[in-house]
Amino acid sequence: MIDFLGDWKRSCYCGALSVDDIGKEVVLMGWTLRRRDHGGLIFIDLRDREGIAQIVFDPDRSPDAHRKAESVRNEYVLAIRGLVTARPAGTANPSMRTGDVEVMVSECKVLNRAKALPFTLDEHVDVAENIRLKHRYLDLRRSALQRNLLLRSRVSEITRMYLSGNGFVEVETPYLTKSTPEGARDFLVPSRINQGHFYALPQSPQLFKQILMVSGFDRYYQIVRCFRDEDLRADRQPEFTQIDCEMSFVDREDVISVMEGLIAKIFEEVSEARVELPMPRMTYAEAIRRFGVDNPDIRFGLELVELSEIVAKSDFKVFADVVASGGIVKGINAKGCAGMSRKEIDELTEFVRIYGAKGLAYVKVTSDGWQSPIAKFFSADEISAMDSVFAAEVGDLLLFVADRPKVVNDSLGRLRNRLAQILKLVDSETYGFVWITDFPLLEWDDDEKRWVAVHHPFTAPMDEDLEYLESDPGRCRAKAYDLVLNGNEIGGGSIRIHQEKIQSLMFRMLGISDDDARLKFGFLLDALEYGTPPHGGIAFGLDRLVMLLTGSESIRDVIAFPKTQKGTCLMSDAPSAVDVKQVRELGLKIAAR
Ligand code: AMO
Ligand code: AMP
Repeated sequence: MIDFLGDWKRSCYCGALSVDDIGKEVVLMGWTLRRRDHGGLIFIDLRDREGIAQIVFDPDRSPDAHRKAESVRNEYVLAIRGLVTARPAGTANPSMRTGDVEVMVSECKVLNRAKALPFTLDEHVDVAENIRLKHRYLDLRRSALQRNLLLRSRVSEITRMYLSGNGFVEVETPYLTKSTPEGARDFLVPSRINQGHFYALPQSPQLFKQILMVSGFDRYYQIVRCFRDEDLRADRQPEFTQIDCEMSFVDREDVISVMEGLIAKIFEEVSEARVELPMPRMTYAEAIRRFGVDNPDIRFGLELVELSEIVAKSDFKVFADVVASGGIVKGINAKGCAGMSRKEIDELTEFVRIYGAKGLAYVKVTSDGWQSPIAKFFSADEISAMDSVFAAEVGDLLLFVADRPKVVNDSLGRLRNRLAQILKLVDSETYGFVWITDFPLLEWDDDEKRWVAVHHPFTAPMDEDLEYLESDPGRCRAKAYDLVLNGNEIGGGSIRIHQEKIQSLMFRMLGISDDDARLKFGFLLDALEYGTPPHGGIAFGLDRLVMLLTGSESIRDVIAFPKTQKGTCLMSDAPSAVDVKQVRELGLKIAAR
């Protein structure tokens, strides 16, 4: 029989009970995590969002409640009234927050039953993710996911408090909108009323927040969903949330200082970590030179070293030829790894191939000098010069890649992270923040044979580089900045172009004709001509931030209802086919597949 709630009111959360409550009568409501029947006494661990309480059914004291408890199964929903008591000596459970107390039940209501679960909610048992995602409502009962979502809610709350405290105004921008290029594909929504026309879901509110600056709102923020139809990875979702900000009459330093204050505040409130301000900075050029990537994990060494000059004239043709044809040679000293087996080195070689490297030359530094298939190609001078830039010592393993700069930096940069994992060099308790600045404005896209914006087309060039925008675009640096945490890009922004002439020139540089620019961005170009203040901003990836704060391995663990790698929702079964009628109303036809 199922009981009704009646006039019962919960008096406190299961997880909030403590020794201070001893002697009080409480009403608890929650789910049955497990039930232990000791013949006489029945013990149930009752769970709610705040934690677990042990409740005890004694057949002598409350025969009615005890009889009900006999039929209770896992995940039944109960309400109980009872007296909080200290657990008998020797039975306290120090691993449980409420482990010093238990509740002696006097009355019990079974509010609902539950079928046998498709998987156990035990944190220690690995369950395939697709099963967990299909029954997400059950998965979300697990304490790890509950903790993640509660923390996420705290982060949003602190963000709102901090930003509104600093004069930011929360403004909502449309979801049914026109495409804003952030480098990904758009999700399109067909219009029924305007057949043949489509809205795009925003990849970010970029243009709207700039226009709010034109309107004079001065400081804007929004915790906002963004949509990008891109290939998914562990740290990417097709819809994700940004903490999106924009400010007027500011330069880079103003934005960075307010925003690192926000991040420090968040960490101070929800973690043990104290973030030292100002955060370290590094230019893009330095990041690439030392770490190979623009999102370096600065918590460990293993920096890349430049060897092109030393090997340019060597007898090792692979290296000499690469340098002669404009490529570079760089290396990493895997400290103390000379003992790695052939198989382990082969695995590293396979790893760098993913990033386009054609091979991974290696040298073991022994007390008898270099031991390596390539040692014979180098002179004593070349070897000693390389030993010196590697700071090589006996027992080290030196790894080399020769190729185009992009391939060398990419592959060694990733290899560096991989080695740190293998060698356990990362202290997971520490946070490594770094601002990356002075990005290039444009980058040559070999496939499309045109310049593309590194950040986005609305980012301003540095004042002193503006003169190169047409003559030498690759030389132009941008007023852009990214915040990197433990090797993850958690935020990115820039000072924007606020003059129509420069924005139009920028579109031309990107191969967008004046007509096309008017068609796609006419509203922005118009707005820029009606008194636009200098402005700039940033957006943080809330999901990524919370993923790092909770130590989660995937962004899916901090999103209530995430999509799979294939962009599907296993619980609701989206995307799905729709009625022919619905499609027809939109003026669409599904091409035969
Ligand atoms: P950007 O494209 O760098 O900048 O995005 C800002 C931050 O959003 C997060 N992010 C993502 N998180 C999860 N899944 C994704 N698919 C995804 N894509 C991006 C990242 C990133 O740093 N309008 C500009 C901001 C600006 O210039 O003010 C923008 O969107 O953490
Ligand atoms: P090979 O001359 O092809 O037998 O290569 C000799 C060694 O150099 C092997 O360990 C290869 O993995 C390595 N190697 C080949 N090409 C490259 C390259 N472009 N960069 C780094 N190492 C390479």
